[in-house]
Amino acid sequence: MVTDRVVRAKAPGKINVFLGVGALRSDGYHDLATGFLAVSLFETVEVRAADTFSLEVSGSLDVSTVPLGETNLAIRAARAVAEALGASGGAHIRIDKNVPIAGGMGGGSADAAATLVACNELWGGGLSRDRLLELGAELGADVPFALTGGVALGTDRGDKLSPALHRGSMHWVLVPSDGELSTPVVFHELDKHRWKQQGELERVVTQPIVSVGALQALRHGDARMLAETMHNDLQAAALRLMPRLVGTLELGERMGALAGIVSGSGPTCAFLCEDESSARQLVEDFADQSIASVQVTSPVAGARLID
Ligand code: C5P
Repeated sequence: MVTDRVVRAKAPGKINVFLGVGALRSDGYHDLATGFLAVSLFETVEVRAADTFSLEVSGSLDVSTVPLGETNLAIRAARAVAEALGASGGAHIRIDKNVPIAGGMGGGSADAAATLVACNELWGGGLSRDRLLELGAELGADVPFALTGGVALGTDRGDKLSPALHRGSMHWVLVPSDGELSTPVVFHELDKHRWKQQGELERVVTQPIVSVGALQALRHGDARMLAETMHNDLQAAALRLMPRLVGTLELGERMGALAGIVSGSGPTCAFLCEDESSARQLVEDFADQSIASVQVTSPVAGARLID
């Protein structure tokens, strides 16, 4: 029976404060060692029971490039919950997007995580948190973290999570790009570069490296230490594919950020700031240069029901 009940959930975007990339595996993925931080930029998802599965997307940014069909992670998430619960019928999903699209901040994964939580509630709440994490990992490597949120170390494909100790909040300014970067294309660019260099390198990287310094900085809530230890193996590849990001990173650091980093596979740039007022100032300084930016804090909780 189709009812009018509406269930809402929200899930955060993420930045990777370190991202070590290992060798390409036979399943097409790379082994990763990454430090995830959930930031206060949220996707909101609303689901209601329907005869079929359908999707509607609106938001604070241009959503015209979001696929609305079966390939969308939110539709796949709703179908996965329906199948796991043996629910008959479908769901109409409405997404309010705030996380940049194909921006390296896990926006699509946040949509999937919020949809998993909302649909589970819609159809009786029969799936445990662990089962949702399993379903999430099947949908994409970043989905489990969008479910848990907070601060976590991700290994394997990035989907095996362990909580990381942290203290206090960090203040960030995000600069979304007006272009998109495809995650597989950025990984491929990194592989191409590594293969080209193999003859010159003494050691081929096979094991991704956990940044002990960054973990320690998070544990102490020390923004200056984090600024010195942030690292992203995908950054050089993202900068080769979108050279204008070099100027964005330099500008943010020149205007007072402790450090700037490409978030995940990019192109969003994340700037770590000393405190709230320096983050606010940086947003104003970017605006003076006609560059739109968003002030956020970390960490925040993962996908959860709202209302
Ligand atoms: O899991 P997800 O669909 O988000 O990954 C998108 C693509 O990013 C993968 O198909 C793969 O090309 C690349 N990827 C990778 N290694 C990872 C995560 C993603 O190569 N650990």
